[in-house]
Amino acid sequence: MPYAHITGWGISVPEPVLTNDDISKMVDTNDEWIRERTGIRERHIAREDQFPSTLGVEAAIKALKVANIAPTDIDLIICTSSSPEYIWPPTACLIQDQIGATKAGAFDLQGVCTGFIYATNMAAQSIRSGSIKNALVIGTETLSRFINWKDRSTCILFGDGAGAFVLQASDNPGGILSAVMRSDGSGADSLILPGGGSRFPASESTIHENKHYVHMDGKAVFRFATRVMGQAAKEALEKANMTTDDIQWIVPHQANYRIIETAAKYLKMPLDKFVINVERYGNTSTASIPIATVEAVEKGMIKNGDKIVLVGFGGGLTWGALVAEWTGPVPSKRNVHPEQYRFFARLRSLARRAIRYLEGLFSRREL
Ligand code: ACO
Repeated sequence: MPYAHITGWGISVPEPVLTNDDISKMVDTNDEWIRERTGIRERHIAREDQFPSTLGVEAAIKALKVANIAPTDIDLIICTSSSPEYIWPPTACLIQDQIGATKAGAFDLQGVCTGFIYATNMAAQSIRSGSIKNALVIGTETLSRFINWKDRSTCILFGDGAGAFVLQASDNPGGILSAVMRSDGSGADSLILPGGGSRFPASESTIHENKHYVHMDGKAVFRFATRVMGQAAKEALEKANMTTDDIQWIVPHQANYRIIETAAKYLKMPLDKFVINVERYGNTSTASIPIATVEAVEKGMIKNGDKIVLVGFGGGLTWGALVAEWTGPVPSKRNVHPEQYRFFARLRSLARRAIRYLEGLFSRREL
């Protein structure tokens, strides 16, 4: 049975920064309160012309570059987002088209902030089963579009960004070693974006009632998160026949510093074994775990051969964790430039649109 290794990684974060002081000019809050209760100092907010696919494409191209494989080598793209570009088509398909992944299946996976754990595990299982060789997993958010900037209990928390992993099959042991995925839909109301779906299709009244924004019972989510984070990490370690002594790093979902502190206490682990960057990004939902992981790799904290735990929680309610051995890119003599495929991808996309248009004009088939 092949192993599924993480061989490529990349992130994309929009430049504009919104500080706590900036937010204190919009709602009744202040830097001290936000930092004390959440650990967040600032977050990045997408420009008007940036969308989940824009950030997702940038992160994906960087990940392909690290893995040194072409978009055409990808068999499967799983995109996970709490702020997808549309209800459908999947954001994964928009990214597939823009990077020129001509042989890839592409779908979105909805697991809210746990999405990246679920998606990475699904991609790994597809590789482990032998049905595919190369997968691209992307968590990407412009969640700022679904935030009520007049609601101080939510607008302080979230930020935008994207992160991507390339997973590849290998006979060498390593890569994703175990995973747990859990859910509890009885808590669906605790964290919800109610408008725009089939229950509350977009209408004047859904807008009037702010149903198109994130609604959150902060205290309930806090209690839930502090209960499940440590538990999930422990279960994933047990599944891999490991203990906390065997791992070098834990990369938790970056929602709130205090939640991470509680998980560290539960696991009896020092906080300096946790990768934490919530201070600079806020909660970027599905992108938070890959952004934190990639930063840790780029800073030289996570090294080849390290065993790590990725652990998350989110709306659904969902939570999960996975244990991985970080092995790095597969050594190869070829030198691939995935970014060059974007030009041809654009041409190909335009040509396909033109063909579809012409087919429509000249088709004599009765509908
Ligand atoms: N600035 C100043 N005061 C505030 C603010 C603010 N931004 N927000 C709330 N307050 C006030 C409240 O009105 C309340 O005032 P009151 O006592 O007069 O009623 C007081 O501060 C305390 O409010 P609480 O809600 O009790 O504050 P708490 O300590 O619970 O912190 C927080 C709130 C930070 C939201 C916390 O509950 C939390 O982090 N929860 C988890 C949220 C989370 O992780 N969400 C993401 C999940 S991941 C996903 O799937 C998207």
